[in-house]
Amino acid sequence: MKNYTKLGHAELKVLGKTVKLPLYGGTEDEKGIDISQLREQTACITLDPGYANTGSCTSGITFIDGEKGILRYRGYAIEDLAKNASFLEVAYLLIYGELPNPTQLSAFVNKITRRSMIPEGMKRFFHGYPESAHPMSILSAMICSLSAYYPDCIHNHPETMDLNICRIIAKIPSIAAFSYKQSIGQPIIEPMNKLNYTENFLRMMFAVPTEEYDVDPVAARALEMILILHADHEQNCSTSTVRIAGSSQANLYASISAGICALWGYLHGGANQAVIDMLRQIRNDGGDVKKFIRQVKDKKSGVRLMGFGHRVYKNYDPRASILKKACDDVLAKVGTDGRPLLDIAKKLENAALHDDYFVERKLYPNVDFYSGIILRGIGIPSDMFTVIFAIGRLPGWIAQWLEMRESPTFRIARPRQIYTGNNLRKYVPLKKRETLSKKVASILKIKGEPKAKEKVEWSRQ
Ligand code: SDX
Repeated sequence: MKNYTKLGHAELKVLGKTVKLPLYGGTEDEKGIDISQLREQTACITLDPGYANTGSCTSGITFIDGEKGILRYRGYAIEDLAKNASFLEVAYLLIYGELPNPTQLSAFVNKITRRSMIPEGMKRFFHGYPESAHPMSILSAMICSLSAYYPDCIHNHPETMDLNICRIIAKIPSIAAFSYKQSIGQPIIEPMNKLNYTENFLRMMFAVPTEEYDVDPVAARALEMILILHADHEQNCSTSTVRIAGSSQANLYASISAGICALWGYLHGGANQAVIDMLRQIRNDGGDVKKFIRQVKDKKSGVRLMGFGHRVYKNYDPRASILKKACDDVLAKVGTDGRPLLDIAKKLENAALHDDYFVERKLYPNVDFYSGIILRGIGIPSDMFTVIFAIGRLPGWIAQWLEMRESPTFRIARPRQIYTGNNLRKYVPLKKRETLSKKVASILKIKGEPKAKEKVEWSRQ
């Protein structure tokens, strides 16, 4: 594997045996102990809840230095890309490994622009959802359903792979915007080829059939930047889900749909929506950030400072820095009422960064802390925030999925476990089971002994 060099070995003493495990290094001074022979040599496995110390793969796509707050896509600094690139240019870079030349970029953009419509039959699906449906539930279902319309994807044939990559990137904004229109009882607005990717999405979101709609260029550029900042982030929860689903040879649409479901969780991609809810709650409670910080520090409250903390960044998330700066510019130009929430966010950040509780735990703002303020500023409703995250992350998921399948060490993901349940016990015929064990009874909260033939009303929690 290129750029993956053997540095020597680690020695492990276990159960009276010393084993040597190969030690490898990557191109950015990260080191890993290869434990692929561990169980065979020691009859032991490793345990690492949440995989905080476990690498699942080698990858040449995204590099993060959590201590220094560095993020690079294929070696390019996120600051450079956010300032200078378009989102589809970054998508091309992540998926194909190099920045496209003008001919490559225009061909890629053209392939995507011309595939933004969704199959006519799929539109009927939207009407089946209640208006209250969360758009992430629709997005994950629709993306997986695309495999029904493009069965050539099922066997992941290389010759149609590029076509399916362009199809999914092209259609995700349309599906997202259509789910929003469905939720507000408005007619679907079809994509328009003369517009670029973000302009098209904003028009599909906010135009109505009865009048012309001019996309605000400030909003389009702000969305472009947000999508770029979310485009990839090495082996996060949803990307690992895409890799694991794809490792069984599940097709691209099915694997991405699995990633969308993982992203939905409020500890991951759902955090941007939770941040806005948190800021609104503080505002409605009189704006007392110190009172909220006290609540967060009181473990019993179960309250977390959403948009803060990160498994990898133990310094400022570089994406949060870029977004914080952009908040002022965007809100000044789009002139919405986002300023009060931005002021609360800045006060909250300042209070936390000067509080030992957060400093000791190296908790800094992450990408979700400011992104919602910008999205809200350009008119995106908060339950669409995680959908925007998914649109941004899609090229990264695709790049990671392709890299996993092309890896020389490709095999189905199947972690091990340490069993802690009952040892072997004999089956007890029903007639001999005089009473359910106390433990089962307390779990099922059965009131009194069920009498034979009586209908048992169990209060199962
Ligand atoms: C994303 O992985 C990625 O790359 C994700 C992402 C991407 O681009 O894909 O960057 C996107 O998901 C960003 C994170 C969005 N989530 C949030 O903002 C939710 C709030 N943050 C957390 O819940 C938490 O910080 C996580 C989930 C992000 C990280 O969790 P970890 O690494 O498992 O950390 P932990 O829960 O073990 O916390 C360590 C300590 C604990 O205190 P102690 O038990 O040591 O006393 O820090 C505390 C936690 O209680 N802590 C927080 C906190 N986050 C951690 N306390 C208050 N508020 C917080 N937000």
